[in-house]
Amino acid sequence: MKIKRVAVWVTVALLAAVAVGIVVKQINKEPAPEFVLTYAENQSDGYPTSMGAKFFAEQVEERTHGRIKILVYTSAQLGREADVITQMRYGGVDFARVSLSQLAEVEPSLNVLQMPYLYNDSAHMWAVLDGEIGDDFLRSVEKIDLYGLSWYDAGSRNFYNSVRPIRRLEDLEGMKIRVQQSDLMVDMVECLGATAVPLSYEEVYSALELGTIDGAENNWPSYEDTDHYRVASYFCEDEHTRVPEMQLCSIHTWNLLSDEDKKIIERCAIESAEYERKVWSERVEKSRETAIKNGVKVTSLDKNEIKRFREKVQPIYEKYCSDYMDILEKIIAEM
Ligand code: GCU
Repeated sequence: MKIKRVAVWVTVALLAAVAVGIVVKQINKEPAPEFVLTYAENQSDGYPTSMGAKFFAEQVEERTHGRIKILVYTSAQLGREADVITQMRYGGVDFARVSLSQLAEVEPSLNVLQMPYLYNDSAHMWAVLDGEIGDDFLRSVEKIDLYGLSWYDAGSRNFYNSVRPIRRLEDLEGMKIRVQQSDLMVDMVECLGATAVPLSYEEVYSALELGTIDGAENNWPSYEDTDHYRVASYFCEDEHTRVPEMQLCSIHTWNLLSDEDKKIIERCAIESAEYERKVWSERVEKSRETAIKNGVKVTSLDKNEIKRFREKVQPIYEKYCSDYMDILEKIIAEM
């Protein structure tokens, strides 16, 4: 009898403990997020723009107390840049960071911000992007159903190839050079006497390896991160363009958010851009060092050659900027 009573009490105590456990678990359980959103990035995980994206996602989650969760997909898992832009315009992808060359294919006024030899240096570009002109362009993408959040750094772009060092305009002549899928970039390379081959970023390594192209053009971190330096070891620091990058939200997603959430997201986007710019400058040096250590031969252009390159690309200013002369003048005045 006594044993039976003890057994009953033990059972009751166990059940009570289980019940308390369930309640505690329920209380501690994070509420399910209100929004689970996607973020597309075509660079690899440890690349500065991917680090910026993750920083952004973490900050948004923290400041909305888990109500907004952003899943960052790197290495073009959500598609190539051009396809991601299309998807965002229809609400299929929520956030992304994209190169302006690609975005300008849909909103051509953006070309004015990435013309060859436009900026004197990085400080000049940031004076433009961080000022009124940059803000107006962030707003300009609303007409293509995107919401511009912030500007990311992508440094300057340079020619590299597997054939010969470039020191003069003539060295580029006849080379097959990969460009982004951008009319402006095709015209720029053709003006310089080379043959432009538009390809997506993901296709460049094998095209270099197979020899279907002789070279390409990009910044130091992209050249190093994608291993292009292993198959194209002549790098010319000609800095022909500075192509900024934009962090974006699909307008369809943006319109679902409350004013308070919009403010948080904008703040986090700006802070993530500040973070990316810092990481960027460190990475440029590291990538340059890695490439040189692995046998990359670096050349540059003397003043006279830079002048010749500049003169050659003048016709594309007329073609791409004649409707935006006022903005172009303002950009030049920021010098
Ligand atoms: C840079 C840029 C990418 C872009 C690439 C390209 O690396 O960050 O977004 O896709 O240039 O050359 O296509």
